[in-house]
Amino acid sequence: MRSDAAALSGAGGQSAVQATGGISVDRLSKTYERIVGRELSRTAALADVGFDVAPQEFVSVIGPSGCGKSTVMKIIAGLLAASSGDVRVSGASVTGPGTDRACVFQSPGLMPWKNAVDNVALALEFAGISRAERRRRAAEYVELVGLGEFKQHYPGELSGGMQQRLGIARALAIEPVVLLMDEPFGALDALSRTRMQDELLRIWEQRKKTVLFITHSIDEAVVLSDRVLVMGNGTIAAEVEIDLPRPRSRHELLQDPKTLDLMRRLEDLLDATRGGDA
Ligand SMILES: Nc1ncnc2c1ncn2[C@@H]1O[C@H](COP(=O)(O)OP(=O)(O)OP(=O)(O)O)[C@@H](O)[C@H]1O
Ligand SMILES: [Mg+2]
Repeated sequence: MRSDAAALSGAGGQSAVQATGGISVDRLSKTYERIVGRELSRTAALADVGFDVAPQEFVSVIGPSGCGKSTVMKIIAGLLAASSGDVRVSGASVTGPGTDRACVFQSPGLMPWKNAVDNVALALEFAGISRAERRRRAAEYVELVGLGEFKQHYPGELSGGMQQRLGIARALAIEPVVLLMDEPFGALDALSRTRMQDELLRIWEQRKKTVLFITHSIDEAVVLSDRVLVMGNGTIAAEVEIDLPRPRSRHELLQDPKTLDLMRRLEDLLDATRGGDA
């Protein structure tokens, strides 16, 4: 693969990724080390990963289990240190977590003793936002994800899809420039999942953010993304531009032969990475 950052940039090369919201990952490697008995065990999770994401671009990452997707995301989030290489967000090196980036994981990890709006407000409190602003933003974002009627409900009184929406509201309320999503819909049933995809498309079109989205679903990646990166065995094996029109309607996209071609292409690329693993 090409390792120079500009070559993998979706739009505008190096200067675009230095602008607010741009992500640049350069020669990133990560080896996990742990003690097993008396031995030091090493797992090379990433080797020389390089890619860029332009401001407000929606990029998905697909790849077989264990190929390093979550590791890349955790390093960009500042939750994990790299072994070598450089990650920049808005042109600045990532040295730890920051309110410019928000994460959404497969399980939303809500506080069961706080109601919907207070779950969002709590995250804002951790981010150092004033009380009045917390109240305003929590109400706004709970509304944005369609949970206005459920503000006072506790997580245990919400469906899985609603809980996930609340997790997204909590991430968006920080008003990050970058949204990092690691299989956010992976635990949902098929119907809730497609609804959430539509919802995310709607929100992203309203409040443009840079999104890095990990998924195991090829059709989810195609429907949502501007570009899809295919990872295999700790490296970026390929990238595919999703040149489908926006705003997108999932229903229309699935009738378009171009969509099916893109899905087939990604499936072949994914199979090739699996072949490489075998
Ligand atoms: N904390 C850790 N300690 C040791 N090894 C780890 C750790 N976290 C991940 N690994 C290893 O690093 C590799 C990449 O893991 P990672 O979680 O990034 O994969 P992934 O692509 O997100 O997989 P999945 O699709 O199953 O979520 C795997 O071999 C995994 O076993
Ligand atoms: Mg993972």
